[in-house]
Amino acid sequence: MRSFSNVMRSRKSVRSFEKTEVKDALIEKVVEAATFAPTSCNQQLWQFVVVKDSTTKQKLIEEASSSTLISRAPAMIIISYDGWSKKEALQAGAMAVQNMLLAATDLGLGVLAMNSYGDDKKVKRIVGLPRNQVICCFVLLGYPDKRAEAAPIVPRKSVKEVMHKEHFSGHIMPRLSYNPDRWTLKDIINHQRYYCRKTFLGKEMDIMHSLERNLVARELASLKGKVLDILSYDGAYLREFPAVALTTADLCQETAEYSKAAARLTVKVASNMKHIIIEDGDVANAAKDFDAATLIYKLERLPTSFRKDMINMAFRHVKPGGEIIVISRRDNALMLLFLFVIRTLFGDDVRKTGIYSFFGGYKPINKRKTLRLLRSCGWTNVSAKSYFFMPAFFDQALQMLLQYIGSGGSSYLHRVRRENILTKTLSLLLAMQGSRRCLFGSVVVIRGRRKQ
Ligand SMILES: Cc1cc2nc3c(=O)[nH]c(=O)nc-3n(C[C@H](O)[C@H](O)[C@H](O)COP(=O)(O)O)c2cc1C
Repeated sequence: MRSFSNVMRSRKSVRSFEKTEVKDALIEKVVEAATFAPTSCNQQLWQFVVVKDSTTKQKLIEEASSSTLISRAPAMIIISYDGWSKKEALQAGAMAVQNMLLAATDLGLGVLAMNSYGDDKKVKRIVGLPRNQVICCFVLLGYPDKRAEAAPIVPRKSVKEVMHKEHFSGHIMPRLSYNPDRWTLKDIINHQRYYCRKTFLGKEMDIMHSLERNLVARELASLKGKVLDILSYDGAYLREFPAVALTTADLCQETAEYSKAAARLTVKVASNMKHIIIEDGDVANAAKDFDAATLIYKLERLPTSFRKDMINMAFRHVKPGGEIIVISRRDNALMLLFLFVIRTLFGDDVRKTGIYSFFGGYKPINKRKTLRLLRSCGWTNVSAKSYFFMPAFFDQALQMLLQYIGSGGSSYLHRVRRENILTKTLSLLLAMQGSRRCLFGSVVVIRGRRKQ
């Protein structure tokens, strides 16, 4: 029998499952564990609706905008509690859920607590829950597949960091503003270290249109020899590199694991890749003979001073005659309007929209300032080309907004694509725009050379 400590320490969120059915007897054990949780005045006013039927799950996805994750789990349980007091309902529900997660882990099941379950009212209607119930969350159940088995336990904060004796004495992360200048490098590293990037290592988290990805592939196609990719992060672009000897540089080991995992999925370059960590604005021990350095959709996420550090670092590590390629979103009119609307509607916290929250802050760069920055760091022949007057990622942003509305504000991601007159018009406009160069585009490709 496994010890309590072992079960607690080995529990992890599982988001991909084998197709094997979960027997009712096991589900009953999981629900039984929930009933041992404490409740206010011992009222025990929870309800547990078990759903296995794929038609019901599909209905939840389509009508209530539940996360598409639920279609991957053989079984799920909707945990609700009498809503006479919402606070009490959520407290009691959460305690029951934790018992369920631990019991399921003990039984060898993979399990996920999930609050991106969609619109409360519609969920209740579909599964017949009375209106006075407060839904606490969904719990997905199944047998973890190989990828889920292999996934590491995500990093935990140390007790020292979170425990206070008699009086609070810690450091609270500042508001996670869209403005990267309001983040210190330490904030970004801490945020990246713990903020879960979901599903599996190597999953790309960026919001990016295929046209933007194709642009990256086109711009990288001429690269040869040794290349340093700065801030590879989720590794989303690694598969666009041609067969070069690639080194990725990240801000911390946890982030480097995402780059590594993405590289493993990237057949062309994985075999001869290296992964290094940036410390004090440099990768001091890295080679100084790279043929090129790349910064792909990252400059817009960095505090101003750190932008300079990265451009300087690239200069120090690229050999004479070598080049730098920066691809970044820039401050064109529609891009700025978009961010203004987002910040007005949702406030200045990247987590509120989930759009750029995984890396840190986000502020499209100014082309002229960036060209000046490159030149001041020693780069010559600095030139820029712009694309996409209408930001191509508007397509995904609109899908996220539709998911947000459909799910009663509970989620943006894991959606089924929706089509309406607006989405069709936007797709048409984007197709007409294509990836031709334009003067005031939302994406800029900047190249510079290090003098021979
Ligand atoms: C209240 C709550 C809601 C969550 N909702 C989701 C969700 O909607 N989708 C998801 O993939 N994970 C969800 N999670 C799982 C967390 O992402 C996960 O617990 C966290 O990253 C820590 O990882 P671990 O569970 O493996 O320790 C949720 C967790 C909690 C506690």
